[in-house]
Amino acid sequence: MLRVILISILAGIAASTLYMHFQGPPPLPDIDLEEWWGPKLDKSKYNEAIVPFQVQFTNSTIRDIKHRLKTRPPLTPPLEGIAFEYGFNSKQLETWLKYWAEEYPFSDREKYINQYKHYKTNIQGLDIHFVRVTPEVPPGKEVVPLLLLHGWPASFLEFYDAIPLLTAVNKDRDFAVELIIPSLPGYGFSSGAVRPGLAADKIAIVLKNLMSRLGHKKYYVQGGDWGALIGSIMATFFQKEVLGYHTNFATLATPWSSTLRLLGSIYPPLVVSTDLADRMYPLGERYSYSLQETGYMHIQATKPDTVAVAVGDSPSGLAAYILEKFSTWTKAEYRSRPDGGLTQHFTKEKLIDNVMVYWVSKCINTSMRLYAEILNNRFFSLGLDRIPTQVPTSIIQPKYDLAYEPPWILKSKYPNLLRITVLDVGGHFFARELPDIFAEDILTAIVSFRNWHKENSKIEL
Ligand SMILES: *[C@@H]1O[C@H](CO)[C@@H](O)[C@H](O)[C@H]1NC(C)=O
Ligand SMILES: *[C@@H]1O[C@H](CO)[C@@H](O)[C@H](O)[C@H]1NC(C)=O
Repeated sequence: MLRVILISILAGIAASTLYMHFQGPPPLPDIDLEEWWGPKLDKSKYNEAIVPFQVQFTNSTIRDIKHRLKTRPPLTPPLEGIAFEYGFNSKQLETWLKYWAEEYPFSDREKYINQYKHYKTNIQGLDIHFVRVTPEVPPGKEVVPLLLLHGWPASFLEFYDAIPLLTAVNKDRDFAVELIIPSLPGYGFSSGAVRPGLAADKIAIVLKNLMSRLGHKKYYVQGGDWGALIGSIMATFFQKEVLGYHTNFATLATPWSSTLRLLGSIYPPLVVSTDLADRMYPLGERYSYSLQETGYMHIQATKPDTVAVAVGDSPSGLAAYILEKFSTWTKAEYRSRPDGGLTQHFTKEKLIDNVMVYWVSKCINTSMRLYAEILNNRFFSLGLDRIPTQVPTSIIQPKYDLAYEPPWILKSKYPNLLRITVLDVGGHFFARELPDIFAEDILTAIVSFRNWHKENSKIEL
């Protein structure tokens, strides 16, 4: 009896997946460029000014952090033989908190963060913070804008090591890149919405408006983590504006891709080339890894405000919560290293810089809400991953990232997928971990996007 029910359920899923697949993509949703996310009453108070901004680690903030770090209650000792399997190892955490309170050079790091120009401007009721780096170019060289989008729990700082590489003026290229690096709404120094609904599709609109505010009618977009989803949506909504989309985290959540993924577990070569099969299979192992690592996601998608009370109130809690991800998401096997492998790829000061952004801006609460806005029925029912975009696309796939998607699945969304770079190194915080490879791949992608546009405009003539 049970078997009959199971088989009917599976047949039902298969039939509806096939039906959806052959029915074609859903329509693009209506796009409201003026949807208001700030307090309604004060609308007239806002203007379109672009105001210079500096990150400040004030003496009283620094004193407060040190005081909290020094007066915290003792941490729970880790269980015998346990590294990071139960979460951030408390022995390790002690060394991080001691470093933060006693050695972290606050004012040098404040200068480091302010070495580039920061601004804020109000878009749709949200104060949007961004870094803008414009190269000085000789006459005849075109400057092309590139929007760089971070995710959680990272920040605009993720791109800092790549900035000089991306904006370098090279005599072999007929263009140079200007960077616009925003803090996502609710992240870092950008304000969050005052009412529900600011999901990835709505953020895509805010960021399109940011680019228009800066005078950029056409531009390239790059993103990882939530930034990848938002960038992909920008490339879907604004196909005439986005000249090319580059991502280091290409995943697709469609019934079709999930069904194929499942089929591939019976015979992987159906779905993925043999040399990359271990990035997708065995499925059981991947699922159990997911279950072990995505508890935070379930909490943030359902009760973000509850957990925010604790992590927003304590620098120790915040550091543990954020830094844990930099360990496991860089390489799963770091869970069983006593030090979590944290300093294998990142310096202590740069990891604490990122925690400082969350602490100083008090944004952990609003940053976590993004999960609740995206992981819900409204957002999924838009089916945005099923709407193809003609924007030329370039994808880089670090070996140790959280998910792998084979090319032919990706092509259903990105028919003009010009390049895929498959790496044997790298994890989720890719721009921070391997800025050279990151920057080089983007610059090569922009060259191919430019060639693609030249070819295609010829065809249109
Ligand atoms: C902050 O502290 C530093 C070093 O203790 C001191 O030199 C500086 O004057 C202080 N700044 C303010 C605004 O109090
Ligand atoms: C987030 O928490 C901080 C305190 O940590 C608070 O100052 C801020 O107002 C909160 N944000 C919102 C939108 O309530």
